[in-house]
Amino acid sequence: MSFTITGPHLGQAAVCIPIVRSLPEWFGIEADIVHYAAAIDHLPTFLAGNPAGAGGFLSLKQHNPYAAEVYVMGVRRECQRTGIGRRLLQDAEAWLRSQNVEYLQAKTLGPSDDDENYARTRAFYLAMGFRPLEECMQIWDAQNPCLILIKRL
Ligand SMILES: CC(C)(COP(=O)(O)OP(=O)(O)OC[C@H]1O[C@@H](n2cnc3c(N)ncnc32)[C@H](O)[C@@H]1OP(=O)(O)O)[C@@H](O)C(=O)NCCC(=O)NCCS
Repeated sequence: MSFTITGPHLGQAAVCIPIVRSLPEWFGIEADIVHYAAAIDHLPTFLAGNPAGAGGFLSLKQHNPYAAEVYVMGVRRECQRTGIGRRLLQDAEAWLRSQNVEYLQAKTLGPSDDDENYARTRAFYLAMGFRPLEECMQIWDAQNPCLILIKRL
């Protein structure tokens, strides 16, 4: 399956939320999905698509002129580990650099939680050049340690 990366686009929640819903091991809380649905429409979003549909997406949130965040991303399970996440991130990073953005952060479940799925997510971010900055219990809650990762663009 070959995918073309396009973006950034706005108004892509209808394309992205079915991918989010197809990954319940990562996105299992309905309130979070509703939040993402509202947020994604307003966020610059990169899509991995082919004639059969979208295989993955990445939505960015820019916090200030210097720093942005991978707000949410997902690749359909059957397409994972084929390089789509890497290509989505590469295109998002190139676009941010063209906007003179200097830092990209990501937040994900930290290593204090032994969830194997999020261990794979952390492996992805590490392989993509992100480095763990801090695990914080106050951003989400004590049951959901939040690992902040950062990358110099
Ligand atoms: C995390 C995610 C976006 C990665 O996308 P992907 O298309 O599967 O990743 P890629 O194929 O581009 O992987 C790039 C590199 O990351 C690392 N990596 C990716 N998945 C990994 C895994 N399961 N275990 C170990 N390393 C992994 C590898 O180094 C890989 O390179 P390689 O395949 O040449 O060894 C995808 O797996 C996903 O959607 N996960 C569920 C949702 C999620 O975690 N979203 C992010 C938090 S919001």
